[in-house]
Amino acid sequence: MCGIVGYIGHRKAYPIIIKGLTRLEYRGYDSAGLALYDNHQIEISKTKGKVSDLEAKAAHLATSTSHLGMGHTRWATHGVPNDLNSHPHVSNSGNLVLIHNGIIENYDAIKTELVKRGYTFQSDTDTEVLVNLIEEVKKKENVKLGKAVQLALNEVVGAYAIVVFDLQKPDEVVVAKLGSPLAIGIGDQEFFIASDASPFIEYTTDALYLEDHEMAILKLGRPVKLRKIKDDAPATPNILELQLSLDQIEKGGYDHFMLKEIYEQPKAIQDTYRGRLRPEEGLVKMAGIDAHLERFLKAKRIVIVACGTSWHAGLVAEYIFEDLARIPVEVEYASEFRYRNPIIGPEDIVIAISQSGETADTLAAIKLAKEKGAFVFGVCNVAGSSIARATDAGAYTHAGPEIGVASTKAFTTQITVLSLMALKLAKEKGVLSTIDFHTYLNALAQIPAQVALALQADASIKEIAQVYKDAPNCLYLGRGFNFPVALEGALKLKEISYIHAEGYPAAEMKHGPIALIDDQMPVVVIATKRGHYEKVVSNIQEIKSRSGKIIAIVSKGDVTVRDLADHVIEVPETLDWLSPLVTTLPLQLLSYHMAVLRNCNVDQPRNLAKSVTVE
Ligand code: M6R
Repeated sequence: MCGIVGYIGHRKAYPIIIKGLTRLEYRGYDSAGLALYDNHQIEISKTKGKVSDLEAKAAHLATSTSHLGMGHTRWATHGVPNDLNSHPHVSNSGNLVLIHNGIIENYDAIKTELVKRGYTFQSDTDTEVLVNLIEEVKKKENVKLGKAVQLALNEVVGAYAIVVFDLQKPDEVVVAKLGSPLAIGIGDQEFFIASDASPFIEYTTDALYLEDHEMAILKLGRPVKLRKIKDDAPATPNILELQLSLDQIEKGGYDHFMLKEIYEQPKAIQDTYRGRLRPEEGLVKMAGIDAHLERFLKAKRIVIVACGTSWHAGLVAEYIFEDLARIPVEVEYASEFRYRNPIIGPEDIVIAISQSGETADTLAAIKLAKEKGAFVFGVCNVAGSSIARATDAGAYTHAGPEIGVASTKAFTTQITVLSLMALKLAKEKGVLSTIDFHTYLNALAQIPAQVALALQADASIKEIAQVYKDAPNCLYLGRGFNFPVALEGALKLKEISYIHAEGYPAAEMKHGPIALIDDQMPVVVIATKRGHYEKVVSNIQEIKSRSGKIIAIVSKGDVTVRDLADHVIEVPETLDWLSPLVTTLPLQLLSYHMAVLRNCNVDQPRNLAKSVTVE
């Protein structure tokens, strides 16, 4: 994980780096650091803590006129978060400065060799090993920095996005990538480097995303020099025009990105529909499916691979695909799939779901599936991300940047894309009547407005959160399409409020978890009309008989559950298979308010990072 930012050009580097790090803090926030080249010297400031702590510590550098610098916000892998382990790291000679996102797996063996040659180390990091390896190669081979980086990286096993410069050559920065993202913003006589484009969006919209195994030499006054790391062969830069705007990455008056992103869902879902959902024409158009329709229609099975919230969206999709399109679906944690020699072949379709498009386990699962001959379809939010590029075809969710670590609009837009896919395939396979198809199209069209209505319960959800904010545990129950929503609700609460929470299929209660119920236990039950309503009502009775506190998510106008539950939150009624798109909202808001009331850092929960680009 970690966020990296670098600058070389005619502007002052310090504010670009600090602002860039703040925007990248979602990627890691246990320590931060920066380096500035100033007057033949390198000024370094590093600290445990957040970018704001770095800003305070580096206040003396705020007036620096340096035009060359780099910064890093860390999610620790090797070495505890402390000042010494923070990046940048400097080589033994004091000449090379480097920041790194990723893991050098063979760092220990390299370090042993370097120690034998007299190198010493201040930190426990793999990064300090890498910068000294580059130095050793540069010295031994008597080569320039770019060549030394290329040769050194060929000795390295692992993943990296790196930025490095040499005190002796302050007109040049070298960057390289394998497995971790790296974008280069190209301005007039200036280059910006960052883990994503957000640090430089106000300066340039011309960007180049490095591919794996590529490095670039960024020299002032010259075009980008792109090389292949393996054989040093030249590569052609593919410069794109970014579609990102500044307001998409700012809080826009909300207290937290998470709340902003929860409220963006009606629009995000509408954006996901754009050009695809066409009720008046009676069709769903998805270019990624149309181009490979035969394959989808002949598929014996769909295997979904994902992690975290995206895995929950995959579980919802399993229910929807099997119900509507009658295609067997299996949903796998990408981290398990990649290591368990799965039986998979050319007749299978693998759908990889990922908001960031950078999750290491999901990327590895894709690679494995492709090696075994499967066709891989990506459902990603970030355009041009590693997963978007690694898949054979795909559909973007178009949710816009999601910055809060807790995934919200990514989840509902993933379900939206997967619902459109299932509906389209059901129609193409001829397993859905025309009348049902049109009913479903119209129901989908109403979802953005219904999601907006569901948000109106916000104030009453805050009151409920006030009652339960000190609960040590919480259970979430749902059935059918809403079982994965229960899992997602529990994950949201855990990750941002640190309250222990579990999601279960409601009927599983009596097989064990019911033993946990007493008058201290809040139980969130999704009990919307249609589906398994009566069964869920029975489950609510069972909880009530054991004095559990019931917070029920019900369809508007419900009276039965209102009499049983301690609190009800109404959502608009929709089709059973579309209900996750509305029932998710109150659970997001509940976890949000609980976390805020507990004074938790909602957008940057402890120990987490937005993109999990390491195993
Ligand atoms: O970017 P991805 O969708 O691949 O990320 C997967 C998970 O890391 C992510 O959903 C994580 O579980 C979130 N923190 C959940 O809110």
